[in-house]
Parts: sequence; structure tokens; C-alpha cells
Amino acid sequence: MHRLPAALLTASLLANVYIPVADAQQVLTRDALSRADYVVGRRAFQMRCSACHTLADGGSSLTGPNLWGVIGSKAGSRGDFKYSPALSAAEITWSADRLDRFLADPLRDIPGTSMAIPEGVPNPDRLALIAFMMLETGGADWPKPELPKVVVDPDRSKPVSERFPSFWNHMMSNTTRYRMVTAGGELVFRAWFNADGSITSDNKSIRGFWRPDERDFFCYALYGIPTKPDQLVECFPMVAMSIPRFAEQLWESKPAEGVQLYGGILPGRP
Ligand code: HEC
Repeated sequence: MHRLPAALLTASLLANVYIPVADAQQVLTRDALSRADYVVGRRAFQMRCSACHTLADGGSSLTGPNLWGVIGSKAGSRGDFKYSPALSAAEITWSADRLDRFLADPLRDIPGTSMAIPEGVPNPDRLALIAFMMLETGGADWPKPELPKVVVDPDRSKPVSERFPSFWNHMMSNTTRYRMVTAGGELVFRAWFNADGSITSDNKSIRGFWRPDERDFFCYALYGIPTKPDQLVECFPMVAMSIPRFAEQLWESKPAEGVQLYGGILPGRP
């Protein structure tokens, strides 16, 4: 084996450490952006950004600046906002790719930025998030996708199947897939939400039930899962589940310390 000079060795080690940032430097073509999932992007924005940013023209600055017109603008150029010295000094013009790098890990990209988020935005949500932001801040030259109309009947005396028919059909005729990642390994199981309010699974030890609540959320509990405690409760707005979308990974949660849960919907049932 050749002995590498120390400097080269260090450089190659550093290169390894840098893999996540390299991952951030994907090329976001207009084609990929215009085909990105609008609903995924909106959800990512609501979950990760909306506490601190508004997007619409004339929206107010919150903890972070209003972002209307941000694509193509110089970083730190909104006159009414007090930026960190680090961002003000950064010679950046925001493009989709430049934003991609920033959002993958803001503090690593611009050390000293005052934008403190608990974690970078993972892929593929980041692409969808950027496409959504471009559409909502006037930075996209493609049309906003037409969203399927969600049918909701406000009459609460009626059963869920009649009030939220698209939600009902989606959840009752398709399969929910879970992937649970812990230090001990990974568990994949499928679950079926049934019309009688029960949840069954292809993993015999896992069972559960689901109910609509008074906020029109649907809440469910799964138990017998191999975590401590061995149960999980999640609630989602029924309207959010009314647009049929299929992917192995549509949402993620942390039901317990050290447990990462990924949920998705697969078409059909056995
Ligand atoms: C906890 C509040 C907070 C959250 C959450 C947050 N930001 Fe920020 N954001 C800020 C602050 C504060 C700044 C200004 C940073 C600075 O001056 O260093 C900023 C700056 C920015 C900028 C640069 C604006 C400019 O004028 O140059 C962009 C773009 C941005 N944020 C996008 C996002 C996106 C997208 C998300 C969601 C993934 C997000 N931010 C989440 C607080 C936040």
C-alpha cells in the first residue's frame, strides 16, 4: 500500500466529512422544480419555516425577514430587517441552488447566521420546499399546480365517510407503510385503517384504533410496537389526508427518544 502524505490524508478525510454538503449541491433544474410536489413543499414550509417567515408580497417580517422576491435578490438586502453581520457580509445572490445549499445546513453554509433551525431540511423535501417558495414569492416562471378539490361536508351529524369522502376512500382502500428506525435496527410494517375504527397490521403484535376528533383531525394509536413506551399516537387534519398521494415516505415523526418513524401510503390492499 502507498503511504499518503499527511496533508493529502487530512484532505481526503475532510472530503469524507463533507459528504452531506456535497449532497446539498444538487443541480436544481427548472424541470425538476416545476415538477416538484407542491403539497410536500407547502407542508415542509409550514412545519419548518412558517414560524419565522412569511412569503406573500407585503407580508410582515417575523423572527426572520419576509421572503417575497427573495430569488434573484442579494442576501441580507431587505431594508427593514436587522440581519446578522455574517449574512450581511456574505456575497450571495439567492438562486434555487444557492438556497439548496443554505437550507441543507444554514450554520455550516454561513457560520454566524442568526437563522437557527434545529436541523437542515432533508432531501427530497428540500427540492419541493424550494419549488414551493419560488411559486409563493414570485420567483417561479411556471404556473402553480391545480390542487385537487377537497370535498368536505360541514354537517357534523353525518359520518366521516360522508363528510370527508376523499379522506375516507383514501384511508380505507389503501395501505399505510411504516418504517421505524432505532439504534437497534429498522422495522418495516404495513397497517390498514378499517371502517370499524380498528387498525390491523401485517406485524401480528401491532394493533391499534383510529377516531376522528372534534377538530376534524383523525387521530390514531398503534400499540405493540417495539419501543418504550410500546405505543404511538399521531393526529393529522383529515383535509390533509384527503388528497390521495402515494409514496413510501410522506411524513416522519419521533414517537419516542431515539426512534424515528417514517410513514407512507401505498396503493391498494392485499
Ligand atoms: C427560528 C426562526 C427561523 C426559522 C424556523 C427559519 N428561518 Fe430563515 N431566517 C431567520 C433569520 C433570523 C434570518 C436572518 C439570518 C441572518 O441575518 O443571519 C433568516 C434568513 C433566511 C433567508 C435569507 C433571507 C435574505 O434576505 O437574505 C432565507 C432564504 C430563509 N431564511 C429561508 C428559510 C426557510 C426556507 C426556512 C425553513 C426551512 C427558514 N428560513 C426557517 C429565521 C428563521
